[in-house]
Amino acid sequence: MPDNTLRARDEDFWQTFADRYAVEPGPINLENGYFGRMSRTVVEEYQRNIELINRSNSVHVRRRFELSESLDIRAQLAEMVGVRAQTIALTRNATDGLQSLIRNYNRLQPGDQVLISDLEYDTVKGAMRWLARHRGVEVIEIDHPHPATFDNLLASYREAFARHPGLKLMALTHVTHRTGLVMPVQAIAAAAKEHGIDVILDGAHALGQIAFDLEALGIAFAGFNLHKWIGAPLTLGFMYIAEQRLADIDPDMGEMHFAINDIRARTSYSTPNIPALMTLPLVFEEHQSMGGSPAKGSRLNYLRNQWVKAVRDLPGIEVMTPDDPRLYCGITAMRFTRHTDQQVMAERLLNEYNLFTVVRTGAACGPCIRITPGLTTTAAEMALLVRALDELR
Ligand SMILES: Cc1ncc(COP(=O)(O)O)c(C=O)c1O
Repeated sequence: MPDNTLRARDEDFWQTFADRYAVEPGPINLENGYFGRMSRTVVEEYQRNIELINRSNSVHVRRRFELSESLDIRAQLAEMVGVRAQTIALTRNATDGLQSLIRNYNRLQPGDQVLISDLEYDTVKGAMRWLARHRGVEVIEIDHPHPATFDNLLASYREAFARHPGLKLMALTHVTHRTGLVMPVQAIAAAAKEHGIDVILDGAHALGQIAFDLEALGIAFAGFNLHKWIGAPLTLGFMYIAEQRLADIDPDMGEMHFAINDIRARTSYSTPNIPALMTLPLVFEEHQSMGGSPAKGSRLNYLRNQWVKAVRDLPGIEVMTPDDPRLYCGITAMRFTRHTDQQVMAERLLNEYNLFTVVRTGAACGPCIRITPGLTTTAAEMALLVRALDELR
């Protein structure tokens, strides 16, 4: 496998890669954080699976999919993530798994405290606040320090842990959807462990663009989707529970289709998108054969650095996400400091430069424009973005 840093800047290689994807003419998409494209071959496989399942109906599903294919798919997913198959259960998306982990975590007593930060996904915040009403716990909310550094992020958590001795559970987002900040998960989880605090990790944006090892991160509970950087069809995700911690998550809402010691009892038993699931082996094969997360992450970081390096020091622009390689990935946010309404500026990027981005609010550091190149984005498109940002500032 060639050196990922060298390959990241090889436009010819990435053009050949991009040719595997059908892309609608129109705005240049710099909002690839929402969900990723499937390759043409994955789309074809998905279509074949839709037709097969439509023709064979429950005969295939009950005799083959349920008995063996779904287990093989789970085993392949586990291998890709580097965990044992019995520690993961397929879900419909990241939210599904995260909500189940939060809802069914059974170690909370009334009066305990749970922690969230401004950077958590709103659904996760909502679920943690739901615990206040349904478990009688107190929700502690902290703001991340800005500008963020590895040390001040860790220090803000350490301070919260020390100040709130009743903390038992916290949510942590690996890559925040607001600014693209990558959290120092391992260090925060280790500090949390010293205080006996469990961490539920939101890995929605991490899988496929960041290489990580859940065990090494010290994470026992996590939720992911498969549609952002892996290239899978929409409607798929999974939850992870470390084997020795399974008993700390109750079966979901009296679920009884699986044994109590089977992680699948922690998900709602329902009819999944079977053709999408059946497409996963090809998705994994394509992801791995092009170098997996290290190769994709290097390319996305390279594209991100193309624009960030050019505008970081320009008056009128604030890049919100730091340049410490431990704290950034392909997603990075900026703000026009001389313009109050970032939504207006995002619309100008679209109308005047054909660049599609998205505004994100809710971070303590203020509203920002989130810029997310994708795997079909070119260095020339990043150069256009730099020109646009410079002219609009
Ligand atoms: C940080 C984060 N967490 C959770 C989610 C929810 O993921 P899903 O739509 O797969 O439920 C998202 C979606 O973009 C996200 O960005």
